[in-house]
Amino acid sequence: MLVALGLLALAGAALAQGSAAGTAEVIAQRRAGLKRMGQHMEAMKPVVETGGEVKSLEPRIDDMITWFRGLPALFPPGSDTGDTKALPAIWQDFGKFEATDQALLGQLAKMKQAAAEDDKVGFATMYKALGPQYCGTCHRPFRAR
Ligand code: HEC
Repeated sequence: MLVALGLLALAGAALAQGSAAGTAEVIAQRRAGLKRMGQHMEAMKPVVETGGEVKSLEPRIDDMITWFRGLPALFPPGSDTGDTKALPAIWQDFGKFEATDQALLGQLAKMKQAAAEDDKVGFATMYKALGPQYCGTCHRPFRAR
């Protein structure tokens, strides 16, 4: 009887450990992806500032669109603990979190259009709004400083 209980406790500990490892993995995955999104922003900056052609930026926008479509799935409940700056506010209002992501996706769709047409002025205007408005609108309430 005691042996059986001991085994059960061991199995429980193994399960708990398994889910902690899964959480660490999803946190590492989303942080790596967000870092890549930051790199896209950095890479586009000099092009926009020098009035360069923006058509070549379309693949970066495409990667951002694909990645941000998958963002909500990288924030499963319980992934606010560990090596992360995600705030519990995300899961208190996940609908708002997703809507904020959708707003960014709407702006990215317009930027893709401008890039495809090599509309430098239109692209630059939207690029400048992207960080403070669309990234920042999510970071302010949902990411710890
Ligand atoms: C819907 C919400 C949301 C949107 C939109 C969003 N972010 Fe974030 N971002 C987060 C959260 C939450 C974190 C913290 C993630 C963590 O630490 O687990 C974060 C973290 C980051 C990080 C730090 C990654 C690291 O740990 O090194 C970068 C860089 C970043 N975001 C860039 C961007 C850029 C650029 C945009 C806009 C193009 C953007 N984010 C839009 C929610 C968002």
